[in-house]
Amino acid sequence: MSDPHILVIDEGTTSTRAAAFTLDGRIAAEASKPLTQSYPKPGWVEHDAAEIWANTIACAEAVAAAVGVETIACAGITNQRETVVFWDSETGEPLAPAIVWQDRRTSDICAALKASGHEPETQAVTGLLLDPYFSATKIAWALEHLAEVRTAAGQGRLRVGTVDCYLRYRLSGGQVFKTDASNAARTLLMRLHDVTWDAGQCAVLGVPETLLPAIGDCAGTLGTAKIAGRRIPVTGAAGDQQAAAAGQGCFAPGSVKATYGTGAFLIANAGKTPPKSEHRLLSTMGWRLGGQATYALEGSIFVAGSAVQWLRDQLGLIGSAGETEALAASVPDSGGAMFVPAFAGLGAPYWQPEARGVIAGLSGGTGRAHIVRACLESMGNQTADVLTAMAADGVSPGVVKVDGGMVKNDWLCQDLADALGVEIERPEIIETTAMGAAMLAAVGAGLFGSLEDAEAAMRRVDRTFRPRTSGDEREDRRANWRRAVAQVQAGLA
Ligand code: G3P
Repeated sequence: MSDPHILVIDEGTTSTRAAAFTLDGRIAAEASKPLTQSYPKPGWVEHDAAEIWANTIACAEAVAAAVGVETIACAGITNQRETVVFWDSETGEPLAPAIVWQDRRTSDICAALKASGHEPETQAVTGLLLDPYFSATKIAWALEHLAEVRTAAGQGRLRVGTVDCYLRYRLSGGQVFKTDASNAARTLLMRLHDVTWDAGQCAVLGVPETLLPAIGDCAGTLGTAKIAGRRIPVTGAAGDQQAAAAGQGCFAPGSVKATYGTGAFLIANAGKTPPKSEHRLLSTMGWRLGGQATYALEGSIFVAGSAVQWLRDQLGLIGSAGETEALAASVPDSGGAMFVPAFAGLGAPYWQPEARGVIAGLSGGTGRAHIVRACLESMGNQTADVLTAMAADGVSPGVVKVDGGMVKNDWLCQDLADALGVEIERPEIIETTAMGAAMLAAVGAGLFGSLEDAEAAMRRVDRTFRPRTSGDEREDRRANWRRAVAQVQAGLA
């Protein structure tokens, strides 16, 4: 038989991808399709789960055809987290639009829960904070407001789950209704320390526990996927950010990765017990293998690549994301412009869902290149906010391992090093989310004995960027950023 391949399905926020990995970490074939974003009302973000399914199958079948479906030994699934899908158990068809992680429609529900003093208990049980980002309030909202969803629930036909759960259901022909610990940890309903649904959280948030899927490991025998007429064992599954942490080899407690996709997400390995954040970060699941959990500390930044997309699609300032590198480098600084891209509220460490973006410090001399540069600089500024909170929580990495589409941009990587004062390490394959899902699937299929073995065989570093700034320069930049964030917050008063 030819060399085996690991098929990865990576269902992200703005696109669905599939890739076939070799056991030495090369991508033998890949396919992707953009995913339509719907914004039916201000602050609302929806996806069509039928499109997610159609794109998933199309990408997976294209990759299977390219490498030969018989060479695929196993499959791994990774996904945008927190987004909730509602579907009919009999047909597998969606009953309503999927409510996306960026959707802010449940801000009021979260504010009311906070006002009634529920946040400390939520944080103690789930590791999370009360923010519309997470799944539970989206489910409760749909049960209250969407007749299709309510009726199906009444008739016992409703299935609710995160995107991994929906895909596993459909790929298995309705045989598997399960999620994995890393996705379940993002719902506001899972007890982090023992990986079970919490009856108290379900009651307070208005989500019947009977609707929820079983929670399993991130590697092992997880189900099957019918692709190109063949049943392929699914042996890996994890939320995209946790998969990226695995793909970056963040196995030592305190090691940190930052993925710059639609949003940007920093994850620090926290070892075998749930961390407790005192500085508005999330305590969450890294992955669970053989019933053994590895925990993580996370800082979630809601807008990263989507800010560049906004410059391109809404402002028309650039024709493609690739142009930002030369434009940012074409000016010595942003000319005083500061961009706070709080399109979907502010995430960590602020958690202000009602916040909206600002471009501050404009003058008559501000040009296109300055705005583009300020946009890219906001990545370093937002990341510095999270790293500052991590340091206050006791995690101070000397190296941050970066990945995601944006880190192709050398200028951005250097600016991250300059903003943070730490080394920035970029791997050869920047689609590290998919790499991590491949590693999990390979371990689950017994192709490697451990994630560490998989990393040794599959991951290679491309380049390290070292900081070129002084502490004083970094502090000045932080002060300017804090002033710009204060302008956003003043708008909330
Ligand atoms: O928590 C949301 C996250 O999983 C989305 O990831 O890669 O689509 O920005 P991405």
